[in-house]
Parts: sequence; C-alpha cells; structure tokens
Amino acid sequence: MKPVSELSGRTVVLGVSGGVAAYKSAELARLLVKAGADVRVVMTESAQHFVGPATFQAITGQAVWSDPWDARMPNGMAHIDLTRDAQLILIAPATADCIARLAQGRADDLLSTLCLARDEGCALMVAPAMNRQMWEHPATRRNVATLVDDGTYMEGPAAGEQACGEVGAGRMVEPADLLEAVLSHFTPKSLAGRQVLITAGPTSEAIDPVRVITNLSSGRMGYALAQAAVRAGARVTLVSGPTALALPRGVRRIDVASARDMRDAVMNNLSGTDVFVSVAAVADYRPASPSGRKIKKSADSMSLELVRNPDILAEVAARADAPFCVGFAAESHELDSYAQDKRRSKRLPLVVGNLVSDGLGSEDNLVVLYDDEGRHPLERASKAAVARAILEHISRLLKG
Ligand SMILES: Cc1cc2nc3c(=O)[nH]c(=O)nc-3n(C[C@H](O)[C@H](O)[C@H](O)COP(=O)(O)O)c2cc1C
Repeated sequence: MKPVSELSGRTVVLGVSGGVAAYKSAELARLLVKAGADVRVVMTESAQHFVGPATFQAITGQAVWSDPWDARMPNGMAHIDLTRDAQLILIAPATADCIARLAQGRADDLLSTLCLARDEGCALMVAPAMNRQMWEHPATRRNVATLVDDGTYMEGPAAGEQACGEVGAGRMVEPADLLEAVLSHFTPKSLAGRQVLITAGPTSEAIDPVRVITNLSSGRMGYALAQAAVRAGARVTLVSGPTALALPRGVRRIDVASARDMRDAVMNNLSGTDVFVSVAAVADYRPASPSGRKIKKSADSMSLELVRNPDILAEVAARADAPFCVGFAAESHELDSYAQDKRRSKRLPLVVGNLVSDGLGSEDNLVVLYDDEGRHPLERASKAAVARAILEHISRLLKG
C-alpha cells in the first residue's frame, strides 16, 4: 500500500480579491502547494494593490491570471478553461464586493466569470474578510445567504481584532485552517456517523512532585490519526498524555498525565464509541509509592519499586460491548511475532506495528498492519499519510 500526499492530483483555483487579508493568501498558496495541489491563482484588479502577482507566481510556479482578455491562453478563453480541470475554486480573501458580485451572478471580471462558468465538478469555497460593519450589513447577510443557497461553502469569517482597529466578526480564517477545510472537503467521508476514541502521547508517572517516569513518544501519530478521522467525517475524542502538539481542528481533547488518569478518561468516554485506537505509549509500570515531598540526594544509590499499570486496551477489548479496537505495537525487535501475539492475546481485529527506530518521536513512520488476512506493510511516509492509510484500512474492515 502506498500512502499519497493529501492534495496530489487536485487542481485548486485560488481567487484573491482586494482586501487587506490578501497578504495571507500567499501563505495559503504555499500550504496548498506543499500539500500537493496544482494551484492556479486568479487575482482581482483590486487585490493587486495589496500583493503582487509575482509573489504567487513564485510560490505556485505558475502564471497568475487576472485579465479576461489575457492572450496567454491559446484560445483566449481563460474565463472558461482555468476551471475545467479544477475541482475547487477557493476565494480567500473574499471582499464584500466580490461576494455581492457572486450572489448576483455577475461576470464582470475574470474571477466572477470563472465562478459563473464553472461546471458541477468544481466546488466554490469562500472565505470572507472585511470590516465588521460590512459583514453585518443586511446587504452582505442577504448575499451570503444567497451563496449558501447556491451550494457555496462558506469558511468563516473569524472574529477578533481587524486591520482597521475595530474588533468583531470579519477576519479571514487563518491559512492553516483554510487548508484544513480544503483537505476535509476532498476527504471521502468514510467514517461519517462514527465515533472514534484515540489515545496519544506518552504517560507520565510521578516519582515525587518534580520527577516523573515517561517515554519518548511525541504523540504525533495519535494526533495525525485524530485529524484524519475528523476529515473522514468521524466525531473524535483524543485522550492525550503530555505533548507539545496543537489540537487538530474539530477534535475534542482530554488531557491526562498518568496511565491511570488515561484509563479513567477512556472508560468515561467509551459510551457510543465505534472505534477505539490505542496509540498512546502507556507506561507499563509506575512507582509503587510516589513521594509527596521532593526526594533529597543522600544515599549513593537508590532503587525504585515499580508496579504494573492497568492495560487500557486489554480492558476495553475484553468488554462485552467492545468497540472495534486497534492496538499499536512499537517494538525494538521481532516486530512480526510481538505484534501478532498482541493481536491474538487481546483479540484485536487490527494491530499497527512499527520498529521504534522507524517511528517513535519522529515526523514520519514505517508501519505494518496485521489483521485476520495477514500482514500489510505500508511504505514509509509522513505520519499524516500513514494515518490516512490506517483509517482507510479500518473503514474497509468496518464495512467488511
Ligand atoms: C486599504 C483598503 C482596504 C480594504 N479592505 C477591504 C477588506 O478587507 N474587505 C473588503 O471587503 N473590502 C475592502 N476594501 C474595499 C475593496 O477593495 C473594494 O470594495 C474593491 O472594489 C474590491 O474589489 P474586488 O472585490 O474586485 O477585489 C478595502 C479598500 C481599501 C482601499
């Protein structure tokens, strides 16, 4: 199985209209390109007062368009041809005037003509950005309602401090969140209606008030799975040990420290769960009696008595009402036999195995999936791509 980059094979027309937030569109273009999309930028004339076409041309590696009479298109039909193999027009920022033109079905510049002339396979997503009074004006409300009625996806606006110094609704949704909206738009909703519970990160077991036993898990794999599951339409709860990671958009997170906290959080959130994915690197042992006071340096050596922690995955999988359970096995050696043992002993439909040298704490991962059919190696890829491939496998098994 070969994980692919998120937007490879997708063509996105990025429309930029004349608002202050146009400078952020350069970052959006970069993120779309990085995600693998073929990005064509179309700017309104006003947008060019805020940012130059050369910026977008350099970022996307493609010509930037703004004039319907541009002779570079061989048949002179840029207003038709630029969207014919595109799956999405994303206008960010979309000015009040641009929204009004779209709502009226006007075609008085290249961007509005492209929107009117696009065919069914090309969706329209609009990220408004304007002063809060412009946004709240009844005319804008009417225009936005018309666009939504016409099947346009509206992203935002966000609220906060505005370029004019006022505070309110009208800020463009941040580029990273717009990228997330685009990725979500293109992700098949294979987990629609499903509730997914994921554990991620390390656990932290107290020795005394300032010292802990923990491990090298970064939490990235669990967070990537949570993000991919939300994009695939699931409702996702993430029970997370201590990590430095940003919470993916749309995910509900419960922060925990110890294995016992994690167990309690999982049990309290199990009701209604269809899929439980146990990614966290849960400490197998914890100090038997953590000291309430900082342990002072006195003896030359000391020993720490450890006791077993609860096995969260085994407990969930053994329940009569167990959800579809997925285990992770990170091993330093003999991956196949340890991963298969874990699958059999806990009666799991799926185990994801990796050698610690191949994934723990790093940006990418090399994993093997083990199920009733045998072993399915995935190619090395980013944790985001591996997460998508794992979820595709889960949704196939759920259907089967
Ligand atoms: C400095 C400046 C900033 C502006 N910022 C915005 C803005 O953030 N949002 C908006 O809707 N209009 C804004 N406008 C007004 C638009 O530029 C104007 O309505 C223009 O006709 C929009 O053209 P377009 O939609 O074709 O890009 C601004 C105008 C100026 C002079």
